Amino acid sequence: MKRLAGKSALITGAARGIGKGFARAFVAEGATVAIGDINIDAARRAAEEIGGQNGAGAYAVELDVTRQDSIDAAIAAVVGRAGKLDILVNNAALFDAAETVDITRESYERLFAVNVAGTLFTMQAAARQMIAQGHGGKIINMASQAGRRGEPLVLVYCATKAAVISMTQSAGLNLIRHGINVNAIAPGVVDGEHWEHVDAMFARLEGKPIGQKRREVEAGVPAGRYARPEDLAPMAVFLASDEANYIVSQCYNVDGGQWMS
Ligand SMILES: NC(=O)c1ccc[n+]([C@@H]2O[C@H](COP(=O)([O-])OP(=O)(O)OC[C@H]3O[C@@H](n4cnc5c(N)ncnc54)[C@H](O)[C@@H]3O)[C@@H](O)[C@H]2O)c1
Repeated sequence: MKRLAGKSALITGAARGIGKGFARAFVAEGATVAIGDINIDAARRAAEEIGGQNGAGAYAVELDVTRQDSIDAAIAAVVGRAGKLDILVNNAALFDAAETVDITRESYERLFAVNVAGTLFTMQAAARQMIAQGHGGKIINMASQAGRRGEPLVLVYCATKAAVISMTQSAGLNLIRHGINVNAIAPGVVDGEHWEHVDAMFARLEGKPIGQKRREVEAGVPAGRYARPEDLAPMAVFLASDEANYIVSQCYNVDGGQWMS
């Protein structure tokens, strides 16, 4: 029996990167997965690429986690298509880097709107749906090692990820009485398109050639390399499955040994 057989999942920001990797793994474990993304064309391409068989499969849903009407419409689209929502992965997020004295209100508001409010209100909408269904559910929030400690050029992103860890703790304690398990995953550094953007930002801020920051960061990972989405997916499958029914409000590091807690 596949571990997510018959389950209906929504993964936000799943048109690429880690979320797309999770969608692929969930489908392989028997789930029907909505790829919710603000970039609907990329979401459609990802769904087509992942495909599916024996009832499991991926489909695209347009979603902007900063807008309540979009969140509500996406949850309704999932229920319309799959009849229910069992699993939410709050994965959509933005990154930015700046000297503390150069942080703009625009950057602060944009990152908090997606990473914090987006996570909170998508979690809330999913929890309302799961409570109405009456048979629990699983919510996984994507945190980061950046939520465990500050970084000199990454104040805002680190603060948003610390907020994700905190929201996971409170929501998990509040929702477990409905059989909804809320947990988080804190990756270290995961290779993908995201890192091209991060490397370019640090090249500008630290005056380094393109690619140097990427190599320096990799050299600091105890496991000796960046993670790939496939390195994180088994933890996501586990937290989305019935095997995690007694796990509440936790944040698991999957980071090649970078952080211990
Ligand atoms: N890549 C890493 O090194 C790393 C490390 C630690 C934590 N994380 C976390 O893992 C998650 C995924 O990271 P990634 O590197 O795969 O990200 P990514 O930047 O590759 O993908 C993010 C996706 O979110 C979508 N998105 C952006 N704004 C949105 C919005 N308002 N509504 C809906 N979708 C939106 C984008 O279109 C994109 O498809 C994020 O929460 C990130 O903070 C990543």
